[in-house]
Amino acid sequence: MNYFLEIYGTLPRAGPGSNALTRRAFEMMSDVPESPRILDVGCGPGMQTVELLRLSSGTAVALDLFPEMISQVRASAEGAGVSDRLETLAQDMTKMAFPESSFDIVWSEGAIYFLGFEAGLKKVKAFVKPGGYVAISEAVWLKPDPPSGAVEFWKDYPEIDTVAAKLDVIKRVGYEPVGHFILPPAAWTEQYYNPMEQRIVEKTIEWSGIPEAEAVLKEARNEISTFRKYADYFSYAFFVMRN
Ligand SMILES: C[S@@+](CC[C@H](N)C(=O)[O-])C[C@H]1O[C@@H](n2cnc3c(N)ncnc32)[C@H](O)[C@@H]1O
Repeated sequence: MNYFLEIYGTLPRAGPGSNALTRRAFEMMSDVPESPRILDVGCGPGMQTVELLRLSSGTAVALDLFPEMISQVRASAEGAGVSDRLETLAQDMTKMAFPESSFDIVWSEGAIYFLGFEAGLKKVKAFVKPGGYVAISEAVWLKPDPPSGAVEFWKDYPEIDTVAAKLDVIKRVGYEPVGHFILPPAAWTEQYYNPMEQRIVEKTIEWSGIPEAEAVLKEARNEISTFRKYADYFSYAFFVMRN
């Protein structure tokens, strides 16, 4: 059993966000074709993929490493009646390759960090049409000098930085920043940590004595408690940029 997926692969979202915030970022884009072609990188269960298909009459390619995530996005697109406009791809994003200028919009909520923010922005630049958009949510510091507990939590992602530093990267890679906003605490709890806590409770007794499973539960509990303690210091920011 993949204990990680038993927790993270069974939540409404696999990271912070909400349909309202997906809409807010989408509405920052002007002159989007009526039926845009969209790539959603690291789609997870695909809440935002389905919302993007509701917001436009476009088509979306939902890409994720895990076939279990792909099954979920497909099921939820079927439930929403938009699956005829969905293509799915179980693929490692480091290996993704599309013809130049294939997409009007490249979307990625809380997932581009698997490539790195700057490397990811560079990689998707070739896939997005000139004048097309890239929308990414990404970890940011909200205040200078975060406490050591918060720094320790993010030690495996040294690219976490301030919004200003991220905007510099966006410009350096050659995009025009269009807008950005910080995700509020509810974006972490309502569709992500609250259901995760519920899953932890359900699995704590069932998985007792299985070291690999207990390690997954411990990490999930640590993630939630770190957020509760340091929510004033970090969040995700949504960045919308134009190619
Ligand atoms: C933090 S989750 C975000 C999921 C989704 N965008 C959301 O907001 O709910 C990151 C996603 O990236 C996927 N992922 C991790 N490594 C990947 C890789 N190398 N290539 C493609 N997807 C990957 C995970 O399976 C997971 O679904």
